[in-house]
Amino acid sequence: MVVLALQEVKIITTNYIKGFGPFFILINFEPILKSTINGMKLIFATNNKHKLEEIKDLLNGKYMVQGLSEVGINDEIPETHETLEENAIEKAEYIFTKYGFNCFADDTGLEIDALDGRPGVYSARYAGTNCSFDDNVNKILEELGQEQNRKARFRTVIAMIRDGKLKTFEGTVEGEITLIKSGTKGFGYDPVFMPTGYNQTFAEMTLSIKNKISHRAKALEKFIDYLNSTAE
Ligand code: IMP
Repeated sequence: MVVLALQEVKIITTNYIKGFGPFFILINFEPILKSTINGMKLIFATNNKHKLEEIKDLLNGKYMVQGLSEVGINDEIPETHETLEENAIEKAEYIFTKYGFNCFADDTGLEIDALDGRPGVYSARYAGTNCSFDDNVNKILEELGQEQNRKARFRTVIAMIRDGKLKTFEGTVEGEITLIKSGTKGFGYDPVFMPTGYNQTFAEMTLSIKNKISHRAKALEKFIDYLNSTAE
């Protein structure tokens, strides 16, 4: 059975033929179709508005996803593990268990070879508990100094729970840490991460370019392929 939310039904055109009354009424069902994934709404377990914006852009209107604040959840989501995979699962499980939503969560880390993989799973609070993105960036630049080997990668793990079943997807992008910050777009370590094959940092690129090559884009591509392959 299809249940239509009235406010989502939009009349596009009404043709009127003299003597026959209203003839065609075309209803725009697109928003309704977009609001479900295989018949279910998916909640993205994040409070990060940048990530939400990226993921909505990546989904390109194909599926509608809502962030936590959009469904009235303001919880601080726990992130207590030592690996990206465990943290992504923990976040998705928290929302599914407490609120019963089919949902997904991601966890991302920047792994710098010359720093033995740090900040890695500690990327969010690398410079301390209440640090800013800028504090984190300054800390890695300071630790690297003039180090020649500046190889690094972003790695994202997405964990999805649908009807109680768990599935994970991973994406990485290789690159290097620049000597200085460049660009004002994006967030986090974007001003110092230059992906391999490009001469701009993520923070200098438009969102549409970042979203073609990023770690999150790659993980999400696998996620969407899976959703499509399991569509009824
Ligand atoms: P999270 O735990 O997945 O929220 O990510 C941990 C931290 O990694 C964030 O606080 C950011 O500092 C950083 N991060 C995650 N994704 C990106 C990105 O796309 N660009 C730059 N930094 C990112």
